[in-house]
Amino acid sequence: HELALSLEEIEKGGYDHFMLKEIFEQPKAISDCLRGRINSEDGTITLGGIEDVMDKLVNAKRVVIAACGTSWHSGLVGEYLFEYLAKVPVEVEYASEFRYKEPLIGEGDVMIAISQSGETADTLAALREAKARGALVLGVVNVVGSTIARETDAGVYIHAGPEIGVASTKAFTAQVTVLTMMAIKLGLEKGTITKTRATELITELSRIPAKIEEVLEDTTEIQRISNLFSYAPNFLYLGRSYSFPVALEGALKLKEISYIHAEGYPAAEMKHGPIALIDEMMPVVVIAATHHTNDKMISNIEEVRARKGRIIAISTSENTEVADLAEFTTIIPETMDVFSPLVSVIPLQLLSYYIAVNRGCNVDQPRNLAKSVTVE
Ligand code: G6P
Repeated sequence: HELALSLEEIEKGGYDHFMLKEIFEQPKAISDCLRGRINSEDGTITLGGIEDVMDKLVNAKRVVIAACGTSWHSGLVGEYLFEYLAKVPVEVEYASEFRYKEPLIGEGDVMIAISQSGETADTLAALREAKARGALVLGVVNVVGSTIARETDAGVYIHAGPEIGVASTKAFTAQVTVLTMMAIKLGLEKGTITKTRATELITELSRIPAKIEEVLEDTTEIQRISNLFSYAPNFLYLGRSYSFPVALEGALKLKEISYIHAEGYPAAEMKHGPIALIDEMMPVVVIAATHHTNDKMISNIEEVRARKGRIIAISTSENTEVADLAEFTTIIPETMDVFSPLVSVIPLQLLSYYIAVNRGCNVDQPRNLAKSVTVE
């Protein structure tokens, strides 16, 4: 028993929990994911696992993404990326819902099944259904040789390394990284983005690990915020555009490991319900990380302020307007809107982690949850 414990300590590499280790591993996980695949000099992306099926992807009428949990959130980011960069219609389905609704999918369609473990029963069932109906099925998977990796026609491994913490962190950012590369590559081949644009995008993508490193270098502000709000009964997370899936993911992280009720919303939808909950007791995390929605986000922040909600903003140093309005601001480095989820999700992972620790929760193995859900 003692030996087992010390082995675990070694595996944690000096961190108190696997989750914290995995949060801090993200710069490396993303670098590993990008390695040998992007070339910022000639603006090309090579994804060995899908080169043979690229023509089918280029001609796809639509793309259906199927996943569960955090992987479903990375799929939502993928929807924005694919539609914006490659101009292909994308639907993101909960794998469990997809399979029970007589899905309209067939030849000429492409399904992307996203799964960290590669063993999630509903995701596996969804891909089998799509395959049986004649769609090309691609996998975005972490665990090499897993069932989903084996049963898909082709795919791209995320190469994030083993993820032990039940709440997914580095798998999310690595999945988003793979979807980003796929979207840029598809955009290039379809001609929806130019070579010059692709080169700009790839160059910025290669800087993302360093930008995440910057967020991880100083976590004092996020720890201070965590200490203040550890006993809040509810949290609301708001985001627009690329930050909307990040809001969902931030809320999920908090629920999973801190057992605090949290909801993620598209910021404008707040008016259609959640605004009724806002008072001086309600922490509202606003992810103000995308430039093209900034003015609208500022109006939403003002709406929360008018109802005395406690605003915790995730924003960049250039965005002084947000910092002036928010009660607390965690600064993240500037990046292009398309890459913002990779950076803005980091403080949200840390927020849930520190709150869970303060509440004495079992961070790596939260109650009732499993790392891999192999029942339907
Ligand atoms: C479980 C895990 C989550 C994960 C989800 C999907 O609920 O606790 O962290 O996001 O399953 O798992 P997958 O392995 O398919 O990504």
